[in-house]
Amino acid sequence: MTAQDKKILITGGAGFIGQRLTRALLRQGARVRVLDSFSPQIHLTDVLPTDLASHVELIKADVRDRDAMRRALTGVDTVVHLAAETGTGQSMYEIERYFSVNVQATATLLDLLQNDDCGQSLSSVVVASSRAVYGEGAYQCATHGMVFPEQRSRTRMSQGQFEPVCTHCGSAVSLLATPELAPFRPMSMYGLTKQVQEQAVLLFAQTRGINGFALRYQNVYGPGQSLKNPYTGILAVFSNLARQNQPIDIYEDGLESRDFVYIDDVVEATTRSIHYAGRFVGALNVGSGVATNVLTVAQAVKAFFSSESTIGVTGAFRMGDIRHNMADVSKLEQVLGFVPAVPFQQGLANFLGWAAEQAPEDKAAYERSVSELAGRGLMGKAAIQ
Ligand SMILES: NC(=O)c1ccc[n+]([C@@H]2O[C@H](COP(=O)([O-])OP(=O)(O)OC[C@H]3O[C@@H](n4cnc5c(N)ncnc54)[C@H](O)[C@@H]3O)[C@@H](O)[C@H]2O)c1
Repeated sequence: MTAQDKKILITGGAGFIGQRLTRALLRQGARVRVLDSFSPQIHLTDVLPTDLASHVELIKADVRDRDAMRRALTGVDTVVHLAAETGTGQSMYEIERYFSVNVQATATLLDLLQNDDCGQSLSSVVVASSRAVYGEGAYQCATHGMVFPEQRSRTRMSQGQFEPVCTHCGSAVSLLATPELAPFRPMSMYGLTKQVQEQAVLLFAQTRGINGFALRYQNVYGPGQSLKNPYTGILAVFSNLARQNQPIDIYEDGLESRDFVYIDDVVEATTRSIHYAGRFVGALNVGSGVATNVLTVAQAVKAFFSSESTIGVTGAFRMGDIRHNMADVSKLEQVLGFVPAVPFQQGLANFLGWAAEQAPEDKAAYERSVSELAGRGLMGKAAIQ
């Protein structure tokens, strides 16, 4: 089947990754249907941008709405399931909502595909998984080789000891790129929902004999990401604060790191999964393979805007956060013949140039998101020298 013959459903297609993916697929000639509820936590309006609106069939509905999902699935050959609640910290107290949207809705989707006529033409399912399924991910211990540390303890973090330790001997460990064969060890409810979501989709694909891709996106960034959602995206949070010359407070000691992967690279990996000509059921990391620490990110954002913001390393920490992450992308290259290539400095400049043209968000929403966590005992603070 050529790209032009494809009929693709994208749940969450009005979101950051969804919109960019939709544009790419339309350019390739595919027919795209989007189902999205335009969650007010993310969106300022409930309409698609004009360049998409006239080319996309839009179903404005919740992924948990079985009848709407039946209509959305009818006649499609590929489902890209992106709709989700995405805030790691928020997931630690909005537990029922996260499981309902991320897990229950996936069960509804698969149940329809299995039991209803609407799933008959299906040949592939792509689901957005996350780095969060690994928790701390892979580290090297001098004695025990590759290890996968447990959740960091509140006691150690309160003493300013933020680095994970070897699970077996408690010794210091050094960061490794995490491969897909690392065990599931989510440290947030969000990560747990992503684990169940990807396992359910892959189990379904395997049983049904169709392609199934669980794309474990790392920290995706770029133009178009929500500046409104205070629960996700440190680049969005930092750029909002820097543009308003507000203090930028960084968690822990600022040396925690993330694997930032640019939106165009994520879209390329996702379209390659959609058009994959062979047979594949499994998970793939989609990341840059590079760890960048948060202090470096804050300084770069501040410099870009020539901002007068102060950068404070506070020692505060959130339960559910991981210390570092860096993806091993060799399987991505092996399966899809592609590795993300946009350097962080270039991608960051693209993102910040775009953000500079958007209305800045009021920092009150961000402050509220922090106090929600603190009020529920999900934050702590270490004394920082
Ligand atoms: N952006 C990242 O860094 C990142 C990293 C790892 C995984 N992911 C995953 O990728 C997917 C897309 O992420 P994104 O960054 O585009 O997020 P986003 O928040 O920009 O988009 C999510 C979309 O889903 C929609 N949605 C939310 N709840 C819904 C519901 N109940 N019914 C219908 N639609 C609903 C929202 O309105 C939004 O348009 C998510 O599954 C997320 O977990 C993203």
